[in-house]
Amino acid sequence: MAFLQRALFPASRAVAARSQFRRSALPAIANPFVRLSSTMRPKLRDPSLFKENVCYVNGEWVAAGSGKTFEVHDPATGELIGTCPEFDAQDTEKAIKAAEVAFEEFRHRTGRERSKLLRKWYDLMVENAGDLATLITWENGKPTADAKGEVTYAANFLEWFSEEAPRIYGDTIPSSVPGNRVFTIKEPVGVCGLITPWNFPAAMITRKIGPALAVGCTVVCKAPGETPYTPLALAELAHRAGIPRGVVNVITALNNTAEVGQVLTTNPTVRKVSFTGSTPVGKLLMKQCAGTLKKLSLELGGNAPFIVFDDADIDLAVAGAIASKFRSSGQTCVCANRIFVQRGVYDEFAAKFADKVRAFRVGNGFQQGVTHGPLIHQRAVDKVEQHVRDAQQKGATVVLGGHKLPDLGPHFFQPTVLTGMTAEMAMAAEETFGPVAGLFPFDTEEEVVRLANATPVGLAGYFFSRDLHRVHRVAEHLEVGMVGVNTGLISDPAAPFGGVKESGFGREGSLYGVAEYQVTKMVTYGGMGRPLQR
Ligand code: SIN
Repeated sequence: MAFLQRALFPASRAVAARSQFRRSALPAIANPFVRLSSTMRPKLRDPSLFKENVCYVNGEWVAAGSGKTFEVHDPATGELIGTCPEFDAQDTEKAIKAAEVAFEEFRHRTGRERSKLLRKWYDLMVENAGDLATLITWENGKPTADAKGEVTYAANFLEWFSEEAPRIYGDTIPSSVPGNRVFTIKEPVGVCGLITPWNFPAAMITRKIGPALAVGCTVVCKAPGETPYTPLALAELAHRAGIPRGVVNVITALNNTAEVGQVLTTNPTVRKVSFTGSTPVGKLLMKQCAGTLKKLSLELGGNAPFIVFDDADIDLAVAGAIASKFRSSGQTCVCANRIFVQRGVYDEFAAKFADKVRAFRVGNGFQQGVTHGPLIHQRAVDKVEQHVRDAQQKGATVVLGGHKLPDLGPHFFQPTVLTGMTAEMAMAAEETFGPVAGLFPFDTEEEVVRLANATPVGLAGYFFSRDLHRVHRVAEHLEVGMVGVNTGLISDPAAPFGGVKESGFGREGSLYGVAEYQVTKMVTYGGMGRPLQR
C-alpha cells in the first residue's frame, strides 16, 4: 500500500515532510514561483512518443478523413502544445470496423497469450515512465511527481489485468432437472467504446483497456480533447508491445466529441460503453445507448463527504484531508468535497489543516518544488471562483487563499480554506473540482450521516474515528460506492472503484472490473442419463 500512496500523492508527501521543519519560515501562500518561459518546451527522451495530427486505428497512424485538427494547449502557460485529428462520425465508424474485424481473432486467443501482451505493454510503460509523465504534466498540468505517480498507477492496471487474464473461469451448476448439467462460459462482450477524461490522461485509459483486453474484447477509445497526447503515446507503446492491429484503437476529437460519442453509443457493433466523466453527460450517453441496449459502465461525478469525528486521530485526519482534497489540485471525482468536522475538534483541525495548505507551492508542474499545478481550463477556474464567492457571500470565512493567480498563468487558483460552511452554500450541493476546502461543523453522528447522504450522487466517502462500533456503523450508512476509513486515499487497481446513486454503476479495477467486459453464457447439457448402475 505504501507504494500506491507514494504513487498517488507524492508531491504532498514531500510538502508534509518539509513543512514539519520549515513551517514557521513560510509566508501565507506567498509564491516564490514565476511563470515558466514559453521557450521551455519539455523534451522527451523518445520524441517518437509524441504523436501529432494522427490517431491510432487498425494498427496504423492516420489523420482525420476531413484533414481537420484541433489545438491542444498547456494549461499552465496557455501556449500551444500541438494539434490533433478532429475525428468525425465516419472516422469513428472505421475504427469500430477495425475493432470488429480484430475481435473475431482476438477473442479466441488464450488468456495466457492476452496476459503476455498486457504484461509487455506494462513493461514498456515502466520503461517509458519519464516521457509519459512529461506528457501528462505538459497537457494536464499536474506536477512531475504526481504525473510519475499517475504513470505507476496507470501501469499497475495493466499489470493487474495481465494477471487476471489467464484466470477467467466459468461455473459448474447443479441442475434442478434430473439428467441435466449446467455450465457457464465467460465470454468477451465484444467491441467496446471507451470514453475517458482529462484528469488522469493515462490511468483512466488503462483502467478500461486492461480488463477489456484481458477477457478478449477489442476497443475504440475516445481520448479527451484536453489531454490526447498521453493516450496516443500509450497507443504507440501498445503497438510496440505487439498488440494485434485493430485490438486497440485510440481516436481524438474536441469539437466533434458529441458526434463521436453519438456513434460509439449507437453503432450496433459496439456492445459495451464505459465512460468516466460528468453525471449529465453520463445520463445522455445512457439514453443514447438504450437504442441498442449496450452493456454500460458509468463512473460519474461525486460530492464526497469527509468526516472528522471528535475521537479521530486529528493529525492523521489532517493528512487524509490534504491527500483527498488536494490531489491533482482537487480535480478528481473522489476528492473530498465537503469536509465535516465535529465541533469539539473543529478549531484544532482547521488550524492544522490550514498550516499544511499554507506550505503548498503552486506553479508550473515542471518547476522543481511545485506541489500543485494549474486547473485544466478557464471554465474550471470560473467554477472554483464562483464557489468561493458564493460561500463568502453566505457567511463563510476565507482562512487562506480565495483568489486566482494570474501572475503564474491563466488557470492558477490559490489553494483555499474556508470555515463556517453551511448547507445553503453551492459547495454543499455541487462538486467544486478544484483546490478549495470548505469545513462544515457538525454536532452528532446522526446529523453528519444525514448531511453526508443529502446529495443525489454517491461515489466516495471518508471518515476518521477510533471507535470500532462507529467505524462499522458509519461505513454501512454512508450512501457511496467506496468508503475510506482513517485514510484519504482509496484508489488501488486491486480494489473495486465505482459509485451508487447518480455517481453511476459498474466497477473498475479488481476482479469486479473484469466482469464489466464479460457476458455469462449458460450451457445446459440435457439427457446425460441416470447415475451408473453399480
Ligand atoms: C477519477 O477522478 O475519475 C478517478 C480517480 C482515481 O482513480 O483515483
